[in-house]
Amino acid sequence: MRALRKAKSQIDFDFPLDDGPLALVPLAPTKKSKRTGAFTDNMALPVHRWFRYSAGFSAEWVAQLIDKHNLGKSDVVFDPFAGSGTTMLAAQAKGINAQGAETHYFVRRIANAKLLWNRPDEHQLLDLCELLLKKAALREKVQAAPTSALLQKCYLPQTLRRLTALRDTYTENFSEFGIQSELLWLAITAILRECSGVGTAQWQYVLPNKTKSRVRDPYEAFRSRVQLFSSDIGFMREQGAGSRASVEAADARFTTGGEAPLDSLMFTTQCRGALIT
Ligand SMILES: C[S@@+](CC[C@H](N)C(=O)[O-])C[C@H]1O[C@@H](n2cnc3c(N)ncnc32)[C@H](O)[C@@H]1O
Repeated sequence: MRALRKAKSQIDFDFPLDDGPLALVPLAPTKKSKRTGAFTDNMALPVHRWFRYSAGFSAEWVAQLIDKHNLGKSDVVFDPFAGSGTTMLAAQAKGINAQGAETHYFVRRIANAKLLWNRPDEHQLLDLCELLLKKAALREKVQAAPTSALLQKCYLPQTLRRLTALRDTYTENFSEFGIQSELLWLAITAILRECSGVGTAQWQYVLPNKTKSRVRDPYEAFRSRVQLFSSDIGFMREQGAGSRASVEAADARFTTGGEAPLDSLMFTTQCRGALIT
């Protein structure tokens, strides 16, 4: 636990991390940690916080509904608009199986990468991260930066070279390590905002005409992110959290919810509410 607290305090993100103890489900808010009822609240929760998905909803709300409906180990929660996997992770924290559907390839890949938290060897992940950084630093010296005008507006030339070096090193040498590769991919994807000097609005948009005061170096940000993954993986394992959970590539209008029974507890933000069928 001490190691985890240390890792947490060394990490500096583009979002506020709660100073309180880490827990699987949100603890009572302190004076410092106000609740918004939205995805921001999840940034104090292990694994949820690996990628900031502004369209996500609060894990606490999911946990409350699971409690309210007295769900048990034989139940399956189904989220037909799974997004970045909040429902699945909140269900796993309670030992309940969960299934999701998500049409967007990129968002689904983020959700499924997060749901791999109970599979990797975190020490191997850290080793791969260092190896990738070493190779990227060599590559950066001969790396041509992209010429897109928008990218050049969003990133400093050195940042752009380093991000490109990370991406291309990953693609050429690190994309075939299965689970570990998915987490390395997620780490590169998750740092894009904090490495940009332009405004990154609450939603997924960039605001090229606004600037941020604090911009992170891609290598530092990547290492911090993988360290966060690693410490969260260790924490979750210590807590004995887990259950089966995945997000399938399916359209909510046509899916039958896979193994989720028809009377599953369903979550949706598309119509801004929870549905019990
Ligand atoms: C508001 S977000 C859900 C957020 C999620 N609960 C979370 O916390 O991360 C809605 C998601 O529904 C997905 N979506 C939209 N139409 C869909 C459809 N017909 N079938 C499945 N997913 C869909 C979108 O790509 C988006 O990621």
